[in-house]
Amino acid sequence: MTSERACFVYIMLPGQTAFVTAGRFTLIPTADGQTVGHFVYGRKYLARPDRVEIDPIELKLSDRPFETAIQGGFFGAIRDAMPDSWGRRVIEKRTGYPQLDEFGYLMESAEDRAGALGFGLDVEPPAPRRSFNQTPQLEQLQTAADAIINDDAEPGDDVARQAEELLFLGSSMGGARPKTVIEDAGALWIAKFSHPDDRWNQPKVEHGILQLAATCGLNVADSRIVEIAGRDILLVRRFDRDHAEEGFRRHRMVSALTLLRADDSVTNRANWSYLLLADEVRRVSENPKADLNELFRRICFNAAVSNLDDHPRNHAMIAIEKSWRLSPAYDLTPSPVFAKDRRNLAMECGELGRFANRANILSNHGRFYFELNEAEQIFDDMIETIRAEWHEHMRRTGVKNADVTRISKAFLYDGLFYD
Ligand SMILES: Nc1ncnc2c1ncn2[C@@H]1O[C@H](COP(=O)(O)OP(=O)(O)O)[C@@H](O)[C@H]1O
Ligand SMILES: [Mg+2]
Repeated sequence: MTSERACFVYIMLPGQTAFVTAGRFTLIPTADGQTVGHFVYGRKYLARPDRVEIDPIELKLSDRPFETAIQGGFFGAIRDAMPDSWGRRVIEKRTGYPQLDEFGYLMESAEDRAGALGFGLDVEPPAPRRSFNQTPQLEQLQTAADAIINDDAEPGDDVARQAEELLFLGSSMGGARPKTVIEDAGALWIAKFSHPDDRWNQPKVEHGILQLAATCGLNVADSRIVEIAGRDILLVRRFDRDHAEEGFRRHRMVSALTLLRADDSVTNRANWSYLLLADEVRRVSENPKADLNELFRRICFNAAVSNLDDHPRNHAMIAIEKSWRLSPAYDLTPSPVFAKDRRNLAMECGELGRFANRANILSNHGRFYFELNEAEQIFDDMIETIRAEWHEHMRRTGVKNADVTRISKAFLYDGLFYD
């Protein structure tokens, strides 16, 4: 990047269904080839009685300009509204560019991103999207996703192009799995497709795990399975949207990556820690005790089912009105890895680092507002529930026996109980 790039940042205020302009984001190249991000809230925005902060960490309401060098200058809240590898592939397909720079992905991804933010070059915000793909289009969307995965869409083929266009509408959601967004029964849902490399029926297993988590008392995103053309698709209801007469309200959302001011590269995983996350949640949440109790339960659950992909983008806080709460749990999947003695969560969870182990998880019970005996009780009760229920949950979800066997090593592995 050689020259400065800039855009306006729009936000949907609590209870509203249209954007207002909140400020301006500028990406500035530095002499050493890096980029630094600047953000400033608009004066008109700051003068509004109903103004809210874009995020509770980096971009609190202020009339001073903000600057960051983390993540190439992309403030966490802005990065959270951008696509990850899946959405980027869809965008590349549609634009015909083999690769865009980060700013390009920000500008090219579809409106209707995670959270309440929008971006554009005009000072006046665009009208929010009012029409969405619907359930009957899922077959076409699944075919388009397959074509992108297999890289075999015929260029110039009208059907393929139309399907890609439909798929593009969901391109701004994060994550690596093939997905899109649809409207169904007055709500918006993330539709997660199966992938040819899946070793088991991923949509059904993820649905079963979400249900199991709910049985263990966790606050979990609603989900269901639809079968289209003989294949299962997982629908997860978006908790950052609410239907209103005039459209959808959007709730602000920040990932744990943003809360931790962390980077998301293989080489730099400093701050990837449930303990540090607990500190941030305590500072930010409207109800720290409830949220930290919940976060502790999620750690226990993730360890017990070997959900080892529990990285900071798979945790979030949302603000439905002014104040922030831990979001419902999402993206829970078992990893039946070979190791029997030691498995690591993606984030530090106790004195022994990332070790998915009872003693380790209990070692910092106080950080989560629990006495030791309370924490022990929660862990042990959860283990009992999972032991008694996981199999039944998978079967009830329709996971085939062969798949149940394939994933069985994920549950309650030996090292979980080592002293
Ligand atoms: N129920 C939900 N409501 C709102 N946003 C969600 C929900 N589930 C996931 N997200 C957002 O979408 C992103 C991708 O979803 P995720 O289930 O994590 O997909 P993947 O399996 O590809 O990582 C998440 O990182 C989060 O920002
Ligand atoms: Mg994810």
